[in-house]
Amino acid sequence: MDFQLSEEQEMLRKMVRDFAENEVEPTAAERDEEERFDRAIFDQMAALGLTGIPWPEEYGGIGSDYLSYCIAVEELSRVCASTGVTLSAHLSLASWPIYQYGNEAQKQNFLQRLAAGEALGAYALSEPGAGSDVVSMKTTAKKDGTDYILNGSKVWITNGGVADIYIVFAKTDADREHKGITAFIVEKGTEGFTFGKKEKKLGIRSSPTTELIFENCRVPAANVLGEEGEGFKIAMSTLDGGRNGIAAQALGIAQGALDAAAAYAKEREQFGKPIAANQGISFKLADMATEIEAARLLTYQAAWLESAGKSYGKASAMSKLFAGDAAMRITVEAVQIFGGYGYTKDYPVERYMRDAKITQIYEGTNEIQRLVIGRMVTK
Ligand code: CAA
Ligand code: FAD
Repeated sequence: MDFQLSEEQEMLRKMVRDFAENEVEPTAAERDEEERFDRAIFDQMAALGLTGIPWPEEYGGIGSDYLSYCIAVEELSRVCASTGVTLSAHLSLASWPIYQYGNEAQKQNFLQRLAAGEALGAYALSEPGAGSDVVSMKTTAKKDGTDYILNGSKVWITNGGVADIYIVFAKTDADREHKGITAFIVEKGTEGFTFGKKEKKLGIRSSPTTELIFENCRVPAANVLGEEGEGFKIAMSTLDGGRNGIAAQALGIAQGALDAAAAYAKEREQFGKPIAANQGISFKLADMATEIEAARLLTYQAAWLESAGKSYGKASAMSKLFAGDAAMRITVEAVQIFGGYGYTKDYPVERYMRDAKITQIYEGTNEIQRLVIGRMVTK
């Protein structure tokens, strides 16, 4: 067993850390305050090759692996969780299903553009009445000659409105439950496809979360991803990898909070000594560091399993569950270590705490992760 990162993975971490600290962190608080997505940051990530990390060079990627992708999301989230999820949704939710299920023409067109960062991707599964219970979705797609006509709406879509390419799930046969769901690739600008409400959120405020509306939206059959009726399997298997991207996001948030809290605890003096000299504070830091290492091991292991072509669904649900819950506990403790200052916007820990919460909710709530893991354990 080898716990050493490869030279390439270490180099990628260093490159992303430099980029994150120099180009992303300086505006993170301001973008959060203004709820502003900055496309220029995505363009910079594209120039560094981050938008195509795991895909082969023939599809415009840099031919790296899923662990490198997790390291990139972790390093970005260490300074700005919104930027972390922009990349995670782009790579694992929008690009992965095209790489895995797309035909050659779809890969040459859509995957190439996503990998090069010419296009930004999004994944549209959730609906107002269908969050955890995916199969109860109401959006329909009716065959009409060589096209499908989409009607319905999707909510809470990350990168919604700013993305160019959307993976959209709709019912092609309402009587066949999960076997009646089909996946479509829909481009921004397609007639009948518009954007609705943009959510005002507690955290990840510079990552746009937007409603998608389909009104007699005509999508060519050539844009069906996989086979008709295969959509639920595509949605679930996409989430198997996506959830590990959220684990990496949670890991990055937690590491950012620990780094800030440890530095502050050494600097801040009360009763004539740094607060870190109190066991009550250093034990908190020790527990935070230990939970981070455990989350990192689970996350890296799940990524390694995926790259090795082994089964990784359970490992990914476990990493997302553990890292999300750990990030929440750790960020609350970080605010505590900062005392009153932690409760203000003068320091980044209140943002980390607000951002951590979403990692327990999206890509399947942590109750749903427990359901998935529990089913596998008892199978
Ligand atoms: N891969 C392949 N197939 C799978 C699968 C997987 N991971 N999971 C289930 N299936 C198959 C099952 O084998 C079964 O197939 P058969 O009928 O052929 O045997 C079929 O799918 C139905 O499976 P279930 O009975 O388990 O389905 P269910 O209705 O009970 O739902 C669920 C299971 C796990 C609760 C699922 O609905 C779920 O994951 N819900 C959460 C939704 C979610 O995570 N949404 C995230 C949206 S994206 C997002 O949030 C983005 C972001 O943050 C940036
Ligand atoms: P519900 O399903 O209504 O759940 C409410 C509560 O009940 C939760 O605590 C849940 O855990 C619990 N619960 C439900 N069923 C069970 C059960 N069987 N057992 C135990 N407890 C249960 N979706 C996309 O498709 N694409 C995106 O890009 C995307 N991005 C998002 C970004 C943000 C900021 C947010 C907030 C959401 C995003 N989502 C996205 C949607 C997200 O995946 C859903 O919010 C999530 O899956 C939960 O669905 P829900 O909100 O309808 O909650």
